[in-house]
Amino acid sequence: MPRIAITRALPSEAVARLEQAGAVASSPHPERRLARDELLRHVAGADALVTMLYDTVDGELMDAAGDGLRVIANVAVGYDNIDVEAARSRGIAVANTPGVLTDATADLAFGLLLSVTRRLGEGERLIRRGDAWRWELDFMLGSGLQGQTIGIVGFGEIGRAVARRARAFGMEVAYSSRRPASEAVEQELGARLLELDHLLADAKVVSLHCPLTPATRHLIDAPALARMRPDAYLVNTARGPVVDEQALVRALEAGEIAGAALDVFEREPEVEAGLSALENVVLAPHLGSATHETRAAMAALAAENVAAVLSGTPPPSLVEPAPVARGDRAGD
Ligand code: DGY
Repeated sequence: MPRIAITRALPSEAVARLEQAGAVASSPHPERRLARDELLRHVAGADALVTMLYDTVDGELMDAAGDGLRVIANVAVGYDNIDVEAARSRGIAVANTPGVLTDATADLAFGLLLSVTRRLGEGERLIRRGDAWRWELDFMLGSGLQGQTIGIVGFGEIGRAVARRARAFGMEVAYSSRRPASEAVEQELGARLLELDHLLADAKVVSLHCPLTPATRHLIDAPALARMRPDAYLVNTARGPVVDEQALVRALEAGEIAGAALDVFEREPEVEAGLSALENVVLAPHLGSATHETRAAMAALAAENVAAVLSGTPPPSLVEPAPVARGDRAGD
């Protein structure tokens, strides 16, 4: 019977599905992240791995699993924690969980966008501190969205779902992507393709939805931030390292942009100190997909991916690595 090593406790439905496909080896510490040495020991002899986005799945880990390893199923849409080339060269399939977290992540991106443009975090802190306040004509004004442009960097499923929400709020949609959307999608979403530099210069809100790759690491660096409008907001629900956090703090302190809302960080769970000190920054602890329904669906899809490969059929969401040339700055 194939051995399926899971690196953390999963919802019982997903475990039940995995048990139909093989012998499930639960984590020795299911309630927490495994340390590297624990992880290396745990995967030994596995035919399948179910991994979390914080597990570093590199050639060493694959070799620790042994020659029988056939599939790595990440419980995340992002797979920057997995060395896909190392897997490919060993004939190991890599799968992720796209689709099932699209709405949850787009909802959170929009929640952050509203929080930062309407100063919700700042207002809540004010009330909780017990500061005096009352309605005044000019009290705590934020920025409206209607008629403004949202610039979406990376126009995959989540970027498009954010575009749909933006349209409902009366926003214009611009996007940058290595792969232009079809005319039908552009029409449906009223979206126009822009070079990243133009998008940064044009948009009132820049929302990041690209994967983390060598080409997108620090895509939003000091020069990119300098291109943004002084009244613009940055929203990041993609991956922390897409943004140079130190450059972001400098840009915010210098008033180069109006605010930022971040769900992901360069060195999670660490948050660049300067960010926490700024009123015009909204911070969330990587909650993009954090709903009961979504996490259950992610685990279920990971289980289906494992079951498919172990039964010799293609997994529902095989990762097809699209090698990205360094210097390609379109995002996505
Ligand atoms: C993902 O699936 O990549 C998300 O970051 C999880 O929240």
